Amino acid sequence: MLPLRSIQFTWPDPRPGQFPWTIPAFHGLESLTFENPVTFLVGDNGSGKSTLLESLAQAAGFNPEGGSQHANYDAVETEAPLSQTMRLIWNRRARNGFFFRAESFFSYASYVDTLGCLRSYGGKSLHASSHGESFLALFRHRLSGRRGRGPSEPTLYLFDEPEAALSTTGQLAFLRLLNEWAGSGHIQVIAATHSPILLALPGASLYSFDSSPIQPTTYRESSPYQLTRAFLDNPDRFLKELFQDNDPSL
Ligand SMILES: Nc1ncnc2c1ncn2[C@@H]1O[C@H](COP(=O)(O)OP(=O)(O)O)[C@@H](O)[C@H]1O
Ligand SMILES: [Mg+2]
Repeated sequence: MLPLRSIQFTWPDPRPGQFPWTIPAFHGLESLTFENPVTFLVGDNGSGKSTLLESLAQAAGFNPEGGSQHANYDAVETEAPLSQTMRLIWNRRARNGFFFRAESFFSYASYVDTLGCLRSYGGKSLHASSHGESFLALFRHRLSGRRGRGPSEPTLYLFDEPEAALSTTGQLAFLRLLNEWAGSGHIQVIAATHSPILLALPGASLYSFDSSPIQPTTYRESSPYQLTRAFLDNPDRFLKELFQDNDPSL
């Protein structure tokens, strides 16, 4: 059974032109339900994915700056403006989990160094590895090797652009981890990603933040898949059109 069943939203009176009413993905949004172990959030830059994840992290009891429920360190101050509007409906409340944010990973790596618990991260300071290596060390050691935890403890992992520092090979390694977690029966993952490789995970659900409000979508309908496919099918033609086209969104 998945830990988190749904998020119900109760919005205050609209104040047009003010955040968060400036984000079309949230207009009229009543609930988001989770039916599969892995849910991906897809959408253009600025469509509201991080806003939702940070607020979900706060509502679930994580540090909205990233880390586990117990992580307590200062990064750039993060607001979680939607957490007051959200009600989390749990099947089994997750008391174990992690919020991974590519953008505050440097602060998290420093925090881990101060704790001196490098064994949980493969024995090496996260700062002494390449950016991509340190992401994978965290995913493999800190998240997979849940020392001393029961095998079926409900667990929620939130990821904001985990692919940011990963090579294609690294993304495939992370895809394999996602598949293992999805089959574990007690780990739930909610991840914002632009990666057409990660999005290919069989059995994952996708929500599009390019719709108003947020709508379910499919791998093949998603814009990372469509654009990457169109590009790789014929790079010469794609580039010719791109460089001639005056579409300001590209
Ligand atoms: N606390 C805030 N106050 C005002 N605007 C915000 C706030 N948080 C985010 N925004 C704006 O909301 C939009 C969505 O941001 P974000 O959730 O980071 O998008 P994404 O992660 O999908 O790229 C952006 O235009 C951002 O500047
Ligand atoms: Mg973001």
